[in-house]
This record gives sequence, structure tokens and C-alpha cells, in this order.
Amino acid sequence: MKIKPARRVRGRLRVPGDKSVSHRAGILAALAEGVTRIENFSTSQDCASTLACLVQLGVGIEREGTSVRVFGVGTEGLCAPASALDCGNSGSTMRLLAGVLAGQNFASELTGDDSLRSRPMKRIIEPLELMGARIRSEAGRAPLRIEGRRPLKAITYRMPIASAQVKSCVLLAGLLAQGRTEVIEEGGPTRDHTELMLDWLGVPLETSRVMKGDAVSEHFAINGPVSYAARDLFIPGDISSAAFFMAAAIMLPGSELELKDVGLNQTRSQILGAFAELHADVLIDERHAVCHESVGTIRVRGGNELAPLREGQSNVLRGSLIPQLIDELPMLSVVGTQVRGGLTIKDAKELRVKESDRIAATVSNLRRMGAAVEEYEDGLKISGPTRLRGASLDAYSDHRIAMAFTVAALIAEGESEIAGAECASVSFPEFFQLLETLVER
Ligand code: S3P
Repeated sequence: MKIKPARRVRGRLRVPGDKSVSHRAGILAALAEGVTRIENFSTSQDCASTLACLVQLGVGIEREGTSVRVFGVGTEGLCAPASALDCGNSGSTMRLLAGVLAGQNFASELTGDDSLRSRPMKRIIEPLELMGARIRSEAGRAPLRIEGRRPLKAITYRMPIASAQVKSCVLLAGLLAQGRTEVIEEGGPTRDHTELMLDWLGVPLETSRVMKGDAVSEHFAINGPVSYAARDLFIPGDISSAAFFMAAAIMLPGSELELKDVGLNQTRSQILGAFAELHADVLIDERHAVCHESVGTIRVRGGNELAPLREGQSNVLRGSLIPQLIDELPMLSVVGTQVRGGLTIKDAKELRVKESDRIAATVSNLRRMGAAVEEYEDGLKISGPTRLRGASLDAYSDHRIAMAFTVAALIAEGESEIAGAECASVSFPEFFQLLETLVER
């Protein structure tokens, strides 16, 4: 993929439905009693993987573009799959489905592409085995061979890492367990789409926040086994997809962008706060709730000098904020090159075990574009402002790296080439096409 620099971006658009919410919608609709209509379902390859796995488990699914009808089978109605379930590149598909499969009275196997088979799965194997399932793997990597147990044993599980996928995996297993399953989250809140959707579906979930000195923990408890009726779902626009266009607009003077019906869930929209901290011109309007998720319009204008909000302070992103903008960090690193005083990201070790090692991939591509970057085990320090140079880049088979560096190429001097950029369709198949409608050269 060759990308020429842009003068600015201008336009109005809707980004496709949120990937995280769509995974949960597909899975929770499959376990409901009755038919669910899901509107604005994600167009991502990842969510197609989730639906394909559910079909293999005996769930009827009809899809017409972004409208999906799921014929729920109830929590006890899934069937043993005839072959291994292929989760493709999708960590959410594998980790969320593992929670469901752990509570079945049949065996199943979850597998995926090379990237997914290299990612850590011990984080879900451990709680699911404590609940009574047996999971065979090679050194905690997929393929995962799951021998389910019905009902599962309820547990109290303190998560060793802040991960919404782990939290959701255990809560889904909790639907199928006998008794009270509790998940304790420390190190900052992670996305709460599962909790909101369970509430929308009328599944009782106890939530509480415990504060001990400086330490804050979130507690979620579900009393299983639970059955619930189907209820239609609407998926908000994906803020993680929108963020790429927002970043381009912020960095290119004269840009004006209006993004409608974007998901503004508090646990996902910290990127807006991060932009605001850099003096970017970002406005939120028409905020309303859809299926318990906050949705609204985002307006962005380019041209503000990007600098720390408080003069003399440096820009450091760290701590409990990190899980709430984890997917935006490669792109924020690109933005960091344009910030007076640069940008530092810490406490983000999880980036090393995403679809690629996102710290290494970001550092390598930024350096190729002439940026001065220091790499840490848990983050990076980017100097700024720096005029980026067009360069030969690599997507590292990672959709978010492909899109972050497409945006970097727009603000660079001279043309760039990104090897493997087509992997953007893992989360956002329309990315390049939509970008072309916005870019002015
Ligand atoms: C996701 C949670 C995050 C995120 C991923 C989607 C989810 O992963 O990076 O893209 O849908 O729950 P972790 O739970 O591993 O942090």
C-alpha cells in the first residue's frame, strides 16, 4: 500500500459498529432464549469469526450487511462442533468463547491464525480450570482443547492483569456456574461492555467499587446458572476506528471532521481526554444512550498546536488510564511525534502481547520515519515535534499498526509504503476507502 501525504481531512461520516460490543452481542444473543435482531453489527473480520464459531456450535444466524438475526439457543442449547473453531486473528473471540465452552457438556477446540496462536491464554485457562473445566494447550497457547463441565463451580477470581477479555470470559462462565461467581479487577477499570449488555438483557449483576487506601478495585458478581430472554441490540460506532480519522484531523491544519453515532462509553473514550490534554480541538455533541451504551457526535478541527495543557509539564500517559485507551496507543504514539515536548507512555506492557508486539512495531516504524524514540519494556518515549519522513514501513500483520502508520504517512514528507496494510480489515475493512473520501491533497 502506497500512501501520499495529505493537506487536510474534511467530511462527515459514520464509522462501522464497535468490534468489542459486536462480539458480546453475537455471543449473548446466541445464549438468549429467542431471536435477537442486532443492528449496525461490526463489519470486521474478527466479528465474522465470532459469528462463524457460533454457527459451528449450532446457532442459527442470518446476516444481511450490518443487520444480524441470531436464533438464540439458551444457555444449555449449544451443540458440540464437528471440527475446531477457528477464531482467526481475534483474541476476543477466543477468550470470550472459552468462557462459554468451559460450561458445556461437550469437548471443543479453539484455534486461530499464527498471531493468535502465539498469544497468552494462561490468563483464561487458570480461572476456567478453577471453575472445573479442563483445558489442554501447549505452554498456555492455542489451540485450546476444552473439556467443559456443567455446571461450572462458582469462584471468586482476582485478575492478575487488567483485561476486559479475561473479565468477560469469567463472567460468561459465571452464567453457566452454580452459585456466585465474582471477578475482582485491579489496576484500573477496563471496558465494561459485557456488564452493560448483561444489564440490558436483564441478567442481575452486582457491581461494587472497593477503596483501600490508594488502591481501588472493581467487583462484579453473577449468580448462576442464569437464563434470559432475547432483546434487540444496536451497536454504537467504533471509537477505536474513529480515533484514526480524529488523529489525522488533529494533526493536519484546516481539517474538519464530524463523526456521528460514535460509542462514547466512559471506559473506551479516554482517547478523547488524551486529545484534550494535548490542546486538540475536539467537541462532543448529541450524547444519548443506546442499549445502555453512551453514543454521540464527535467534531474535530485541526490547527491547534499540540502541547501539554499545563505549561512546563511533560505529557505522560500511565497508570490506571492505560487499559482504557490500550488499543489507541500505537496511534497516540504517532500523534506524540507532533506534540511540543513529545509524549511518554508507561505501564503498557500488555501492548507486547497484542496482535503484534505493538511497542516494538511502533518504535521500529517511527524510527524509519525519522522520529527519535526510546523503547521501554512497558512503553515508549517519543520526542516531538518532529517532521516525519515518508518511509518503507511494515504493518507487522497488525490492523492497528497498519492504520496508525497510514495516518503517520498522511502527515509525512514524501510517500510511504506499508507492507501488509490490507490487514486493516481485521477490524475496519472500509478504512482505506473512507479515508480517501476525507483526504484532500
Ligand atoms: C477487548 C479488550 C482488550 C482490547 C481488545 C478488545 C475486548 O484486550 O485490547 O482489542 O473486546 O474485551 P485485553 O482484555 O486483553 O486488554
